[in-house]
Amino acid sequence: MGKTIGLISIKGGVGKTTLSVALAVDLANNYGKKVLLIDTNYSAPNLGIHMDIISPRKTIHDVLSGSKLSAAIHEKYGVDVIPGDFLYKREFSPLKLKAKLNHVKKKYDFIILDASPSLNDEVLSTILASDKLFVVTTADYPTLSCSMKAAKLARQRSRPIDGIILNRLKGRYEVSLEEIQESTGIPVVARVKDDKIVAMSLFERIPATLFAKNTAFSKEINKLSAALVGEKERRPLLDKLLFIDLRKEEVNREVLRENFYKRVFR
Ligand SMILES: Nc1ncnc2c1ncn2[C@@H]1O[C@H](COP(=O)(O)OP(=O)(O)OP(=O)(O)O)[C@@H](O)[C@H]1O
Ligand SMILES: [Mg+2]
Repeated sequence: MGKTIGLISIKGGVGKTTLSVALAVDLANNYGKKVLLIDTNYSAPNLGIHMDIISPRKTIHDVLSGSKLSAAIHEKYGVDVIPGDFLYKREFSPLKLKAKLNHVKKKYDFIILDASPSLNDEVLSTILASDKLFVVTTADYPTLSCSMKAAKLARQRSRPIDGIILNRLKGRYEVSLEEIQESTGIPVVARVKDDKIVAMSLFERIPATLFAKNTAFSKEINKLSAALVGEKERRPLLDKLLFIDLRKEEVNREVLRENFYKRVFR
């Protein structure tokens, strides 16, 4: 049975879509996993652009208003993708997502949900349909305060957050990992740098993890994927030779891998 992973945030523009796409493509292409990637940002969907699906036949909006889920699947970059529809006019029910996914979960190793930043039924739809949740945030106080709201909402719905993904790190004037973990009580499981390769890859409409595999961005996503599939992450030889301690997020990924593996595959 596959696991559904939701990437959420309350603040917009923190990188949910970028990271959902990168993670889905990495799990499929570098770990051979069967992945379904869905745009659950119903008001402002743009996952299709990232995945170079510009005029989808059917979308998640059609699925949530009665169409068969299989009719909305588009194969791209080794992943099954269900994009959204910017211009959808008819009624649809976001909270039916979980029931829709129950029918297909056994066909996939992972279902990745790219959430909406709005504090309403849209993000609730993602939270309720997910087995695992990650909050995507940047490391500044205004965004972190929103991230804590997202974590609270998830907790209230008995869906605790499994990890924080820090994105767009620039290395200066940022809240430290320690402070973030202490104030949220949630482990940071990835630290993704701000990388110009992301804008370049989006311009070409090729996911960043395929566009440039050897960047710090792609390597960090690959390490998160490793934890999700239950594999130990590869450390640079020099780190091992010099007995360099694991960084905090690496330790957290070890714990994530242990727990994820036990709960998912046992
Ligand atoms: N690690 C990164 N390095 C550089 N640019 C990034 C990175 N992550 C995301 N971006 C850029 O930040 C912008 C917002 O990213 P994205 O659309 O993924 O955010 P989002 O959280 O999905 O936004 P929304 O809430 O509106 O759906 C995009 O221009 C994207 O290219
Ligand atoms: Mg988005």
